[in-house]
Amino acid sequence: MSIPRHDLGHGIGLRPRHFGRLLAERPPVDWMEAVSENYLAPGGRPIAALEKVRRDVPVALHGVSLSIGSTDPLDRSYLASLRALVDRIEPAIVSDHLCWGRHGGRYAHDLWPLPFTEEALEHVIERVGQVQEALGRQILLENVSSYVAFRESTMSEWEFLAEMARRTDCGILLDLNNIYVSARNHGFAAADYIEGMPGDRVAQFHLAGHSDKGAYLFDSHDARVPESVWDLYRMAVARFGPVPSLIEWDDNIPELEVLVGESRKAASIESETLRRRAVGS
Ligand SMILES: [Fe+2]
Repeated sequence: MSIPRHDLGHGIGLRPRHFGRLLAERPPVDWMEAVSENYLAPGGRPIAALEKVRRDVPVALHGVSLSIGSTDPLDRSYLASLRALVDRIEPAIVSDHLCWGRHGGRYAHDLWPLPFTEEALEHVIERVGQVQEALGRQILLENVSSYVAFRESTMSEWEFLAEMARRTDCGILLDLNNIYVSARNHGFAAADYIEGMPGDRVAQFHLAGHSDKGAYLFDSHDARVPESVWDLYRMAVARFGPVPSLIEWDDNIPELEVLVGESRKAASIESETLRRRAVGS
């Protein structure tokens, strides 16, 4: 099978700060992405806002607590709640992260990197199969930013991600900011990552900002997309063509207009890149 690449265009995250506006007006963007865990309660304002948005535009559900790489068993009650939300919202995309964040039943509320070994790959592949079975659909997994790496790794992150996607029939959510942050922190070339991705598996992009801490870059997701990440976006669009893109802003969330402006900038960079690609310049 292949992974469907929906023609969604350019979206932004659904955040509580904007619920009032979005309950009253149609979202001024092509589509929206909601953090799954914030909408698992079957009643209340969050789910009412999400259902209203879903009536207006396509929606993606993006989870943060699947912990696909953990050695703990998969959290079946979480998966059942997520399945109920998926059935209710009928999102275009369901995604989470290639990471681990739970051990011994305790959640770290963080997205930690995996060792990129054959053993970890087999482990993740088996679990992605279980998750797709439990949800009754394909998922996308996203690359996370990292600050440390395992000495045991025998392959690159992009080789791991590509092989996982190929063998599980899942898709890839490529966070271009996370690639940039990790490339700088670990000293690899971001272009190698993009070149190493299987084009038929990349089904969504995240675009975000980060902070420069001097000795390392920190994935703060609290600022405008910097020029360095827009450059990677140009490279990714030139390689993969149009892919649904999302402005991901998680902290110090600005007015809706700022996010909409960033998503329009993504749309214009995409059109310009595709135009250049078509004329071969
Ligand atoms: Fe992301």
